[in-house]
Amino acid sequence: MIIIKGGTLVCPDGLRVGDVALEGDKIVRIAASIEAGDGDEVADATGCWVFPGFIDAHTHMQCWTGIDWTADSFETGTRAAACGGTTTIVDYATADRGVTLPDALAEWHKRADGTCTSNYAFHMAIAEWNERNREDLAAMRAGGVSSFKTYFAYDHLRLDDAETLEVLEALKPFGGTLCVHCENGTLVDALQKRVYEAGIHGPEGHPLSRPAECEAEAVSRLLYLAHLAGDAHVNVVHLSTKLGLEAIRAAKARGQKNIFVETCPQYLLLDDTCFTRRGEDGLEGLEFVMSPPPRKPSDRAALRQALLDGEIDTIATDHCSFNLHGQKDRGVDDFRAVPNGGAGVEHRPALIATTFEDQLGPTELCRLMSENPARVFGMWPRKGCLAEGSDADVCVWDPSVEWTILAKAQHQNVDHTPYEGFVCHGRARLTYVNGVLAARDGEPTGATPGTYVPR
Ligand code: URP
Ligand code: ZN
Ligand code: ZN
Repeated sequence: MIIIKGGTLVCPDGLRVGDVALEGDKIVRIAASIEAGDGDEVADATGCWVFPGFIDAHTHMQCWTGIDWTADSFETGTRAAACGGTTTIVDYATADRGVTLPDALAEWHKRADGTCTSNYAFHMAIAEWNERNREDLAAMRAGGVSSFKTYFAYDHLRLDDAETLEVLEALKPFGGTLCVHCENGTLVDALQKRVYEAGIHGPEGHPLSRPAECEAEAVSRLLYLAHLAGDAHVNVVHLSTKLGLEAIRAAKARGQKNIFVETCPQYLLLDDTCFTRRGEDGLEGLEFVMSPPPRKPSDRAALRQALLDGEIDTIATDHCSFNLHGQKDRGVDDFRAVPNGGAGVEHRPALIATTFEDQLGPTELCRLMSENPARVFGMWPRKGCLAEGSDADVCVWDPSVEWTILAKAQHQNVDHTPYEGFVCHGRARLTYVNGVLAARDGEPTGATPGTYVPR
């Protein structure tokens, strides 16, 4: 047995000081004091918070994005995740047009199985809607995939409104959740052309071509479609604007149920001034080209308040990493050619714990980054729950450690981080995945205990 002793345990019914025993891949005992026997391993958690491992429910590992491959494989991405205290990711398997859902799922298993440090589950992104895909939803369900994604933007991925409605209706009998990328793609395409032709070619053209209205219109449209489908379960992913938030409030005020909301650290910490940064090599602004883009300070403030008020269910990263040199820099003269996405899977718990240091305690951090992702995506109480019988995914978090995020020290497989120089308060001291120590003090142990999580 491994006995984690003397920490503040973040349990579903509140905080308590005590011990946690792990045996095999389960939490077998939680008590005020557990006596260690011969052969037991003891980990001192005095002064630490003991969380059920963090869950990042929005990543894109080892994925073709229409322009390039993301830089992190499942191997490097889940290793980085564990270093930061994240014990499970839910990654977006993607069935590109012409690829069946079972083939896409098999391909994602081929990429991930046997390589992962953290656990992994899959959503399935659907890029075309036809009878074959409708029939294959049952195979997805049987394969442990209970959540899906569709896009309103990106020409090679997006569905139209009628197709989106049909997907929502088709998922209802399965109790499936549809995660939706809410940006109006027609408008984005037109505005990109307009901004470029106006002579704005650098990264500052990216936010200009994707204004808040593009998001808010798409959020509103999605919620009307979900209502038409009988209040189908929807998860608005990577919410970034006050206008989008207002569209969600309006739907909830009409009485609509089954709306879940995700935001990401980039919309809680950054703002659109990042696009005018140039750095030593003139490229820095390109790092922040992700969709949706970091927004105005007033959007950031509105989302931070909404988070504190309980209007946002989950914080995920949308980890979609590309190197600055050799990938993002291909768009130095044309923002439209920059692969969209940023890295974050390693740093989310530390970023959020630090930026909300005086506002969110361990219970709230657990709710937003572990318990709620597990509940929304059908993993609770197996995951996201520090309780006897739950999986032995545990993060022992030392809130007293001060350290600085640096690209050269990170484990994410990229040459930059949007948070370079950010001073963090708190770090994962020990990360256990399925009862195996996967990372210590932000460094991997080399173990790869991650397994697939069917949901
Ligand atoms: O820019 C981003 N976020 N790329 C990843 C794909 C998505 O939209 O989630
Ligand atoms: Zn998206
Ligand atoms: Zn994404």
